[in-house]
Amino acid sequence: MLLITGGAGFIGSNFVVDWLSAQEEPVVVVDALTYAGCVQNLASVSSKDALVFIEGDVCDRPLIASLCAQYQPRAILHFAAESHVDRSIHGPGEFVRTNVTGTFELLEAARAYWTKINESERLSFRFLHVSTDEVYGALGDGDAPFTESSAYAPNSPYAATKAASDHLVRAYFHTYGLPTLTTNCSNNFGPYQFPEKLIPILILNALEERPLPVYGDGSNVRDWLFVTDHCRGVATVLDHGVVGETYNIGARCEKSNLDIARTVCSMLDELVPRGSGCYADLITFVADRPGHDRRYAINPGKIESNLKWRPLESFESALRKTIVWYLKNIPWVNEVRDRDWNDLHYGAELKAAAGQ
Ligand code: NAD
Ligand code: TYD
Repeated sequence: MLLITGGAGFIGSNFVVDWLSAQEEPVVVVDALTYAGCVQNLASVSSKDALVFIEGDVCDRPLIASLCAQYQPRAILHFAAESHVDRSIHGPGEFVRTNVTGTFELLEAARAYWTKINESERLSFRFLHVSTDEVYGALGDGDAPFTESSAYAPNSPYAATKAASDHLVRAYFHTYGLPTLTTNCSNNFGPYQFPEKLIPILILNALEERPLPVYGDGSNVRDWLFVTDHCRGVATVLDHGVVGETYNIGARCEKSNLDIARTVCSMLDELVPRGSGCYADLITFVADRPGHDRRYAINPGKIESNLKWRPLESFESALRKTIVWYLKNIPWVNEVRDRDWNDLHYGAELKAAAGQ
């Protein structure tokens, strides 16, 4: 049995669906169903007895303790987080609560459970913490990609709270011997990503004939990974990772934001041509994100050579799959957007800030 936090969010739900499609081992999902969590993401596996869904908060230590006592998980996989940089700039408090306090409460519940199980269970137990490359801060254009030994230098409230959670996980391994694993992954994309992140915004705004907001001059660089490959990476680290270690996950796929916008537009031109003109005509440069990190890039050499993980999807094929998924899942988009949506997500507030 796995206990999975945040399993109704973008990456967590992809992980749960892939896991239950390939394995018999059951999972308990604990998710607070914030604006970013959606039980429908799990619809394709919801009839399986192997899935237990609990609406609950990672800050609720007694709840996590009682779930551990009831289900006796062999591992806790911690995906739950507040995850959007722009939201962290507008309201960092919730990021501190979930990402820092939540990880602390979860670690305490895990430690209490782990100290009570028998010795062989204690040896095989794992606490796997899912984190981000953003903890390493920004790279300059000529800098080498991040490795596991890059210094932590988080720049946004999101990155700072994830960095704090990584440090707590590290401390629980070194201080208490809790068998932890940490993954630091690059930018994900794929089905079920909440439509406030770059790639779904581009797809959906284009279909709605809205401006495609590109921050600054569009030259900021991110390193992109298809969510399914990330989930395989997490499963690989769970099975084969060395306790106490961290693993960077990425596909060596650096792209500028403007390149991403143009590629999405040209795929849409092919799949759903506009009445007149092409989608790239909708690209609109808007005021930059405050403190916008220039570039992220992951060196995945450690997970590749030590654990034999490799991404299986090319960027182009994965992006096409993602676009086709959004085209077929407009009702899902409408439902999740109904919960918590405002003009921020169309770039209007940012344009206003720039006096445009
Ligand atoms: P997401 O925002 O789509 O999903 C987060 C999930 O956590 C949601 O289901 C939400 O309801 C749940 N949640 C939030 N607060 C909670 C709380 N207090 N208690 C219980 N559940 C809570 O995020 P995502 O993109 O799926 O990211 C998952 C993890 O992967 C995060 O830890 C994130 O930092 C990390 N990560 C994300 C990316 C990316 O590109 N999206 C890249 C690297 C790492
Ligand atoms: P995002 O998807 O928010 O991920 P992150 O901030 O975690 O990297 O943003 C990816 C990049 O796209 C980032 O450089 C900011 C930029 N961006 C835009 O240009 N326009 C947008 O509307 C959004 C949401 C992001």
